[in-house]
Order: sequence, then structure tokens, then C-alpha cells
Amino acid sequence: MKHLIDPTDLSKQELEEIIDLALDIIENREKYSDRCKGKKLATLFYEPSTRTRLSFTAAMMELGGNVLGFSDAKNSSVSKGETCADTTKVINCFADIIAMRHFEEGAATVSAMNSHIPVINAGDGSHSHPTQTLTDLLTIKREIGRFDNITIGFCGDLKFGRTVHSLIKALSRYKGVKVVLIAPEQLRLPDYMKQEVCDMNGVPYVEVDTMEEVMDQLDVLYMTRVQKERFFDEDEYDRVKDFFILDKEKLKNARPEMRILHPLPRVNEISTDVDDDPRAAYFRQVENGKFVRMALICKLLDWANDPTKTTELVPADAVRGEFTCRNKRCISNMENGVESLFRPAHDKSGGYRCVYCESKPK
Ligand code: CP
Repeated sequence: MKHLIDPTDLSKQELEEIIDLALDIIENREKYSDRCKGKKLATLFYEPSTRTRLSFTAAMMELGGNVLGFSDAKNSSVSKGETCADTTKVINCFADIIAMRHFEEGAATVSAMNSHIPVINAGDGSHSHPTQTLTDLLTIKREIGRFDNITIGFCGDLKFGRTVHSLIKALSRYKGVKVVLIAPEQLRLPDYMKQEVCDMNGVPYVEVDTMEEVMDQLDVLYMTRVQKERFFDEDEYDRVKDFFILDKEKLKNARPEMRILHPLPRVNEISTDVDDDPRAAYFRQVENGKFVRMALICKLLDWANDPTKTTELVPADAVRGEFTCRNKRCISNMENGVESLFRPAHDKSGGYRCVYCESKPK
């Protein structure tokens, strides 16, 4: 079974098939209006969402299918203590495909382990958000025209920003990609991302203190919100929340063809006076999210009947029960019955990484 838990679950070819299908859907909307007739998408959202949940809903409706699910887990039997694994087994009786957002990191992996229908990770804590990555890639394709040879600046919360982690992973497979990291000390990109993703794939990166010093070099400026909900300490959030605010003045040296992306929602990191600038692509990006989710739903439903299409959830070299995950938000620490699973880390420091959330063990 093919699931989408992390962008790297898709080969470069599969990813490009999805982008190409999304482009065809944009050009030929009518052709796809019955494509998912009789199919049901379950949207299981344990965490708030506007864009992801509603774009999945709109996507399935435009494909002629139906949608069921919940947008607040408090109204489901999760409030009685039902595990993610059991909820998934139940939903398998009702739907053909699942889109799940969860605050527990690794929840989509656990769901996929317990599912006979495709599971799409619609965001698991600060770990991964692969459909935002597909949205970002479709936007880069439509706005810039290529994935190779781009310089992309990531600005803001690079520590907790799962959309940043996922997009760097996806772009690391293309030639000539350069990454500029613009973040305060407390919100820098985690070391494992620098080592396992940038270093291992030969992606050059620099860390800078201000967006102004690199503005004229960028093809894409990817702004992010500081994620208040991921902080354990509110004072720490207050110290970093206003570090980077993009306004018209800071865009002075940006190239005319540069594009500003943001996964949204924004708080104050992009001033509203930027919205009318033709380089501001973030609301166009939202609509691309619906088209690319239409393409993803079609592909995963097609691939569900193809025995050659699989997602490796537990690598063959994973070790069982030997370590404990140090991440308090990992599903292995939050739910009963989730087996400890670690895989060898493919970075300079060696050791192992949690299969669910990618943290190193205690
Ligand atoms: N970009 C994104 O994931 O938005 P939502 O949280 O509104 O789904």
C-alpha cells in the first residue's frame, strides 16, 4: 500500500507525476469532475486547520467523491481514550482514503501501520507536512518554472516549522538548489536536517541573521510563522516572536521575479502592505493546495491497487524495543501499544533515529 507520511515516500518520478497531474487538472477541470465518484475521503483532524482540511474537502468534492470525518477530536471517541491505531481500523470500515492531522509526532505512521487504505499525513506535530510540500512545489513550478538551480531563503521558525523541513527534503533531490537559513539562534534548523538532508545530498546552506543581507540573491523567500503551540515556555516564545517581519521596505532589493511563499496562517511576519505586490504568491499558493491534493487523492487511489507501489514504514534494519524516544511529543511516548522502533541514523554522528518522529534515543 502506498501512503504519504513524508515527502521522501514519493520517488522523484512519482512526485513529478503528481505535479503534472495537478497541472492537467488546472487546465481541464471538467475532465476530473467524476474521477472519484463513489469514493470516500475521511478527514481526521486532531489539531486545528483551515487550509489543509478544507482544501482536502474541496478537492474530493471537485473529484465527485464524498467526505466524512471530524475537525475536533474532542467530538470523537478519542476523548474516551481510543488510540490512533484503533481509530484507523474503524475508519477503514467506512472510507477509501484517510487524511490525518495530529499533534503527536509519528501519528500518521502509526495510522498507516494499521490501515488497508492509503493514509495521507496532513501534518504530525512539528515533524512533517508533505501535502504542504506538494503545494509549495506546485507553486514554485507555476511561479518560477523549475525546481533545479533555485536559491531559496527560509525565514522565521526553522526549528518547529514542519513545512520547512519537508520542503528542504523534497528540494534536496534537485540540482543546483541553494538554501539560505534566516532564523534567530533559538529557532535554527535542527542539526539532523543539516546533516542528514543538506550535507548528505550536497545541498549548500548558509545561516544568516537578517533577510535584508540576502534579499537580492533569492528566487524564493519562504516565510514562516513562529509556532506558539510548539513552545513549552511562553516567555521563550515572546522573546523570538517578532524577530523577522517582512514589509515593503525590506523588499526594495528583491528581484522582480522573486516569489514570496508562506504556508499560512500568518500572524505578523508579513505586513499586509506586501499582499498587493505581484511577488506575493501566498494566496495563489493556497489554491494550488487544492489542485495538488486532487492529484494526490487520484494517484493514491490508483496506486492502492498496484502491488508494486508501497511505502516502507519500518525499515528492514530497524531495531525493536531497544531504546526510548526522548521526544515528549512522539506518539511512542503518548499512546499505549506503540512499539519502540529505531532505525540507523545516516548522519555523521551515527546512532539511531526514532522511526516515528526521527529523534535520537535517550
Ligand atoms: N498551511 C496549513 O497547514 O494551514 P492550516 O493549518 O490552516 O491547515
